[in-house]
Parts: sequence; C-alpha cells; structure tokens
Amino acid sequence: MSGLDGVVAANTALSHVDGAAGELVVRGKAIDDLTGRIDFAGMAALLWGDLAPVSRDRDALGRALGAARGAAARLVPGLLATTKGLSAVEGLRAGLALLPDRDGDADALAATAAIPVFTAALSRAARGLAALEPDPAADPASDFLRLLHGRDPHPAEAAALDAYLVTVADHGMNASTFAARVVASTRAGLVSSVLAGLCALKGPLHGGAPGPVLDMLDAIGTPANCEAWLRAELGRGERLMGFGHRVYRTRDPRADVLKAALHRLAKARGGDVGRLAFAEQIERTALALLQEKQPNRKLDTNVEFYTALLLEAVGIPRDLFTPVFAMGRVLGWIAHVWEQEQSGRLIRPQSRYTGPMPAGKRAA
Ligand code: ACO
Repeated sequence: MSGLDGVVAANTALSHVDGAAGELVVRGKAIDDLTGRIDFAGMAALLWGDLAPVSRDRDALGRALGAARGAAARLVPGLLATTKGLSAVEGLRAGLALLPDRDGDADALAATAAIPVFTAALSRAARGLAALEPDPAADPASDFLRLLHGRDPHPAEAAALDAYLVTVADHGMNASTFAARVVASTRAGLVSSVLAGLCALKGPLHGGAPGPVLDMLDAIGTPANCEAWLRAELGRGERLMGFGHRVYRTRDPRADVLKAALHRLAKARGGDVGRLAFAEQIERTALALLQEKQPNRKLDTNVEFYTALLLEAVGIPRDLFTPVFAMGRVLGWIAHVWEQEQSGRLIRPQSRYTGPMPAGKRAA
C-alpha cells in the first residue's frame, strides 16, 4: 500500500505506460511514432482533442497559444515584482497562482502559454536582463528559446526542444498528473489543478533528476576517467544517474526518441552536439557495468539521461530543467483534468488509523 504501487486510480484514454514491454502509448500511438512527427501544438490537439471545451485543430491551437503568450507577458511585471529571491520553479509557482480559475478553455490556453513566458522572464530577471515580448506567430519552442536567450534559435535547436516537449507531454498516472486529477476531482478548477501538478513535479523524486546526470558527467570529466569513475561509484553502492526505472523493466522508450532527437541536432550542426559523444561512451560503459553488477535485472537508460543532454545542448540552464519539464507536461495535466471532470468522481481514498483510541473504543 505504501506509495500506492500497482493501485489503479483512474481509467484514462490518454496514455499507457507498459513497463514490461518498454512502451509508451499516447492516444493509441507509440511515442516513437509521435516525437519528431508532430509538434507541440499537434500534441496539444492530440491530447486535448474531444475533451477540450472548444475543439481546435493544430493550427488553431498554435494561433490561440500565440495570443495567450502575449496575454501572459502582460502579467510579467507584476510577477517579477513579487518573486525576487525565489528559484525559477518557485517563481513559476507564484506566476501560475496569478491566473484565475474562470473558464476551462481560456484557462488551459493561459496556463500553457504562461509557463514558457514566465520561465524565460524569471530566468532573465535573475541574470539582470529585461523580459522580451513573445512573438505570437512563432512556434512555442522557438519562442521560448528566443525569450530566454535573446536571439532567434537555430531551427534544429527549436526542433530538438519541441521533440522533448512532445516526448514528456504525458506519462500515465505519474505523481504530478495524479495530484492534478485529485484537485480536478474537487471541481476546484483548471489552473488550481495545474498548479497542484507543478507542486508535485517540483520534487527531486519526480521532475528533478536530469541535473544530477550532468553532475555525473562533470565529475567523470574525461573519457579516460569513465570506467574507473563508474566502477568506484558502483563499488560504493551508489546509483548511476539516468539508469533504471520504477515502471520500465526494460528500455525507457523516451530515452531512445530523445537520443534520436539529439543526433538530428548534431547532424544539423554538422558535428558533435554538446557532450553527446562523451555521454554515449558513459552510457555504453554504465550499461556494461550495471549488467555485470545486476545480471538478473535489466537496468537500462532512462529518460533523464538524454533529457539532461538535450536541454543542455539547447542552452537551458540547469535551474530551468523542471520548469521546462512543466512546459511539456502541462498538456497532459490539462487533458487529465478535463477527463477527470467529465468522467471521474471525487477522489477520496481511505486511511488506516494507527493512533490511540479513546478508552474502551477500538478502531473499526
Ligand atoms: N545504478 C546502480 N544500481 C541500480 C540503479 C542505478 N541507476 N538502479 C537500480 N539499481 C539497483 C538497485 O540498487 C537494486 O539493487 P539491490 O537489489 O542490490 O538493492 C537493483 O538495481 C534493482 O533496483 P530496482 O528495483 O530496479 O530499482 P527501483 O525501482 O527501486 O528504483 C530508480 C528505480 C529509483 C529509478 C533507480 O533505478 C535509480 O535510483 N536510478 C538512478 C536515478 C535516476 O536516474 N532517476 C530518474 C528515473 S526516471 C524518472 O523518474 C522520470
């Protein structure tokens, strides 16, 4: 019962994580067939589809999200005035709290658009830079990179980030999605539910793993140090970051699609990208050593390994990794909120009382 492992908390038509087969299916399609083939607005259209209060196709959603980024930018001065000293994800939490719970359709657009706009503005403010105006005609990934870096991204960089956002958009009943559904089940409203999702995502056991992958790369330092470092780490009983998964008992399909996205970025840049070649050497060595250490348990690369490399390769600072994860996952949270509101009952489980009882009474 601890951690609700194996408990089915909802029926969903949105996504299915098959841990034994190493498959992620979103709305009937394998993630391998989605990433790189549809973009962020296309994923929003796929996930939101028949659940959304206002039905829009990919192009209409792209336009609506562009307009909503402009509206989010108008909240930035007020946000920056109240978030000094907070981390980026804490600032984003404050920013989402500024949005009203008013109308499911407008709120979905507002919450989705606010995440990139607020995240870029918070990051720039921390660097002493002014926030930039969103471009409503740009695609969300390009616009975010420009708002963050202050220059137009290379199309291949935007495509790589877009591939990441699509890949992480939904993943079964993960902790943040469950949190969003619990709040939605009380009919508290869409923004409140999304905010609950972000609060759950913020924890290092959920959305915070890619940073340590980069710490590991930093600590290994050079290719020559790779095997010795990894052996020493395992010898001390430490876990190698970016390997193993609670649900996937074989490969994590998201690792493969992100690795492919990184290779596309490398090709477009005409060579290596970031530390991809070095990371691949670490991956090969780590997998061999993990196989040696746990011959009966297939420990494979998980999504966090290539997430870290991809986000680093497109210039995202480590403190923005969780807000950028939220930028993609918000599509899933919103779809789950609508699904919960349409078909779910109030989520109200039981607890088993283990405390003292009044004299003469026993807990039932
Ligand atoms: N490095 C070394 N050994 C490992 C690793 C690893 N990355 N993962 C599992 N093992 C070992 C465990 O120590 C355990 O050994 P033991 O039986 O001697 O104690 C054995 O393999 C089996 O462990 P599992 O039951 O598969 O692992 P569990 O389900 O408890 O944990 C987890 C899964 C937390 C992801 C684990 O693999 C881990 O700590 N990985 C490193 C951190 C990481 O990459 N986190 C991101 C995960 S992806 C995500 O959350 C989105």
